[in-house]
Amino acid sequence: MTDDVHRPSLGALQSLIYTPRSPQSEQPSLEVLDQLLLPNKKAYIPVKTTQDAWKVIRDMNVRGAPLIAIVAVLSLAVEMSAKSNVQGKDGFASLQAAAAWLQEAVVYLKTSRPTAVNLFTAMDEVLLLSQATTKKHDAVGACVQNAAPLVSAVVRFAEQMLKEDVESNQAIGDHGAAAILANLLPGQGVKVLTHCNTGSLATAGYGTALGVIRSLHKEGRLARVFCTETRPYNQGARLTAFELVQDQLPGTLITDSMVSFLMATQGLDAIVVGADRIAANGDTANKIGTYQLAVTAKHHGVAFYVAAPFTSFDLSLASGDQIEIEERPARELTQVQGIQVAPQEIAVWNPGFDVTPASLITGIITEKGVIHPFPSAGATDAKRRVPTQETGEARRKSNGTVGRGRRMTFDIPGFLNGEGAHQIPSSLPDAAAPTPSMELDSANVPSPSSGYVALSEENVALFLEKHVRDVWDLLGARTGAEVEISEVGDGNLNLVFIVRGPKNTVVVKQALPYVRCVGESWPLTLDRAFYEAAALQEEGRHTPRLVPEVRRERRRVWTIPEHLFIKFWAMSCDPLCCNLG
Ligand code: MRU
Repeated sequence: MTDDVHRPSLGALQSLIYTPRSPQSEQPSLEVLDQLLLPNKKAYIPVKTTQDAWKVIRDMNVRGAPLIAIVAVLSLAVEMSAKSNVQGKDGFASLQAAAAWLQEAVVYLKTSRPTAVNLFTAMDEVLLLSQATTKKHDAVGACVQNAAPLVSAVVRFAEQMLKEDVESNQAIGDHGAAAILANLLPGQGVKVLTHCNTGSLATAGYGTALGVIRSLHKEGRLARVFCTETRPYNQGARLTAFELVQDQLPGTLITDSMVSFLMATQGLDAIVVGADRIAANGDTANKIGTYQLAVTAKHHGVAFYVAAPFTSFDLSLASGDQIEIEERPARELTQVQGIQVAPQEIAVWNPGFDVTPASLITGIITEKGVIHPFPSAGATDAKRRVPTQETGEARRKSNGTVGRGRRMTFDIPGFLNGEGAHQIPSSLPDAAAPTPSMELDSANVPSPSSGYVALSEENVALFLEKHVRDVWDLLGARTGAEVEISEVGDGNLNLVFIVRGPKNTVVVKQALPYVRCVGESWPLTLDRAFYEAAALQEEGRHTPRLVPEVRRERRRVWTIPEHLFIKFWAMSCDPLCCNLG
């Protein structure tokens, strides 16, 4: 560490104070901010041993996936340094003795809290380091009486982790802000919502989801951030609200139960949350309440992002149903600040986390860019032209997909290995509508991943209500409640919806960002979409009664990234056209 003391200046709060070894102090020291006392009191708890660390993690004086791991690792560094300075039974008699102690301490620290994977990954990395160090010294026949090489290795590892956490949070913040802004008009202010606490208090500094919000503010684009109270532990009300006030971000606190109404009445551009463990398919465990946010975001057509460093991925788990969910004590529900607010006898279920299925996630923001899901390989329009019978509810229950048989998939191992075309463009696209010459430029291949939100039977009416107001006259309806919507095909190039109103029927087509059966390796070129529209318009000029009117909507949020391409066939109830429905 170059600084004497680890005091991240990124966000007004310091979740911990780590003082490395220096000429003034023989060994490093650690103190953690007691988050249970916030927002009323700011006090630090000394952490001298792994027992101290276990207790502050278990009692949630410190919490948040990255911070739990950092505190655990720093406690190893601090206690090992202290032990290496003493002789006798409290010290380390040899390198092997230190390695054996470390092994036990790691097993013990892993029992503190089960859900956040960061702790487990960090502990396993420390063990690998220990094995490598011991092996190296065995091999060279070095003085194994001396535990110093292992102690130094653990200290270096802990200090590096502290530094890297802040760096990766800043990168997450910037990638996330770029992804959200890519869906908005230039200069447009952003309204976002976040849940739990993912800020400086959950990390070594800056934060993950709250880091994205900090970066939006830095860009001058944050209109408002709504934070949920996050019952039952109130991390949102106590900690996120505190961070927002400290950093003077435009924040509004709401209860968890207000989110759907907020979306319906005030509009929201995106939700950004953190993660405690992300399975290989993108299913994400995060603070209880996250799942219901994702469900209502889907319903309201709001982008739902998870922001997390690579250390939050657990590729050993194929899906989220394998994630262990911590159950917290009943008193967290029945009491508020020690005051009983529910009958003591009532049975209580208090899971600390829930799992959001990957199919509800717009993108996972990491320090290396944003991972976007893609519709899994499927049949062509023709094969999938099935009349809608089952309800959305029945479909969701049957296979967890939203929309007709369309399962969104993440290729997380591919992304982590640097394969695939998942990254958002490094510069933000120009919001201006493409000029005619650009429209037919075959070299103009969009990134398949920037902010694409797939339409579904559930959100197409909302899209029309929000963005295509004049279509309602055509339909002869005032709201989504007065139209009937069915998805008739989810092929390789387009998603197709029939919207039937009292007066007319409209076909809504949304282009996919790439050719589905091939995957992201074959992005759909813009000219493919524009040629289709141009051809239809041309046909319409020659045979107006046979070809429906085509309209394009340039709304980025719903489009091939950077370019909207939605097509409408507004059909009168002319029998010649009705076969399409
Ligand atoms: O129970 P907590 O407060 O440790 O839960 C914290 C969360 O769920 C956070 O959202 C998650 O750890 C990400 S923190 C960057």
